[in-house]
Amino acid sequence: MLLILLTPALFGLSVLAALDVQVPEDPVVARFGSDVTLNCSFSSGSAFNLSDLSIFWHLTDTKRPVHSFSSGQDQDEGGSYSNRTQLFPGELGSGNASLLLRRVQIQDEGSFTCFVRIREYNSAALLLQVAASYSKPQLTLEPDSNLRPGDEVSVSCLAYGGYPQASVLWQDGKGANLTENVTTSQVASDEGLFNMWSVLRVMLEPNSTYSCVVRNPVLGEETHASVTITGQHMSFPPLALWVTVGLAVCLLGLLVALAYICRHKIRESCKEGPAVEQGQETEDEESKTAMQPLKT
Ligand SMILES: *[C@@H]1O[C@H](CO)[C@@H](O)[C@H](O)[C@H]1NC(C)=O
Ligand SMILES: *[C@@H]1O[C@H](CO)[C@@H](O)[C@H](O)[C@H]1NC(C)=O
Ligand SMILES: *[C@@H]1O[C@H](CO)[C@@H](O)[C@H](O)[C@H]1NC(C)=O
Ligand SMILES: *[C@@H]1O[C@H](CO)[C@@H](O)[C@H](O)[C@H]1NC(C)=O
Ligand SMILES: *[C@@H]1O[C@H](CO)[C@@H](O)[C@H](O)[C@H]1NC(C)=O
Ligand SMILES: *[C@@H]1O[C@H](CO)[C@@H](O)[C@H](O)[C@H]1NC(C)=O
Ligand SMILES: *[C@@H]1O[C@H](CO)[C@@H](O)[C@H](O)[C@H]1NC(C)=O
Repeated sequence: MLLILLTPALFGLSVLAALDVQVPEDPVVARFGSDVTLNCSFSSGSAFNLSDLSIFWHLTDTKRPVHSFSSGQDQDEGGSYSNRTQLFPGELGSGNASLLLRRVQIQDEGSFTCFVRIREYNSAALLLQVAASYSKPQLTLEPDSNLRPGDEVSVSCLAYGGYPQASVLWQDGKGANLTENVTTSQVASDEGLFNMWSVLRVMLEPNSTYSCVVRNPVLGEETHASVTITGQHMSFPPLALWVTVGLAVCLLGLLVALAYICRHKIRESCKEGPAVEQGQETEDEESKTAMQPLKT
């Protein structure tokens, strides 16, 4: 009795197992704009006739058709996949139902199901992950001149055209994590690629280096840029410096000239004055003598 009940179940399992459909377990990573082959292979227990074979590639979530093959006819399913998909007709007989997807777009990311039917049917789903490299970051300082230690500056880091969203890390010259005020925004372009903009606000210290490290988590790529604030950035701006030096030199010259003229005039009046006999006295003594009447 038990055997009779189990027999159909065992039979059913063996029928399902007769058609085995295999796809990659790990997500298939494709670069934006490139072509990718979504592998799908099947094996049936026995030889089969190509006219009995049906293959349907569709989106797992929405069941939207992507590409199909049935009754010996290959069919592009149109829509956003129009002219971008292709099976390998010569490989179908050997159990290769892989789909070539051209010019991968961000919207293509997601789960694809490979459905195969000969007499039995089976299917398997794979995940397509799209990726694009970020440009080398560009750093800008705001303000970028007239800097002094203790000033608050914004260091901006820009990286373009990557996917998926980047992780951004700010480091100092020794590679230590900067914990200052960081604001990061990532905005998608029409194509779906991200432009990353991160701003670090810091109190300036002399000889400091600020590095922006942009990492693409899928590709494992890291690009970075850094800026080092040296004494040069910190000094007075040249114009103000020269104006200051110039004024100081003029003032000094003026004072020296004045002092010389004064001294000359005083000496002349001393020599001419008949009351003064000690003409060879030093200026100090002169001033002392001059002061004395005031004090007493
Ligand atoms: C597809 O299958 C071929 C042959 O098994 C293999 O060399 C290739 O790496 C596979 N590609 C992907 C994206 O899994
Ligand atoms: C299927 O065939 C294509 C074209 O020859 C090849 O690139 C791909 O790796 C094959 N896939 C498998 C799973 O063998
Ligand atoms: C395959 O199918 C076609 C049409 O149904 C038939 O003419 C042909 O004999 C079949 N071939 C085999 C090997 O079964
Ligand atoms: C696909 O290609 C055909 C023939 O080259 C063309 O007529 C059609 O407009 C294309 N479709 C799309 C969506 O590009
Ligand atoms: C840097 O600091 C951030 C926030 O505190 C943290 O999430 C990240 O893991 C740190 N990275 C490293 C490499 O220490
Ligand atoms: C970051 O800066 C903003 C604006 O200057 C300020 O409101 C915020 O409190 C700061 N956060 C930290 C953690 O310093
Ligand atoms: C800054 O660096 C330069 C050269 O590396 C060094 O000569 C100078 O002493 C440093 N200044 C400070 C304040 O650390």
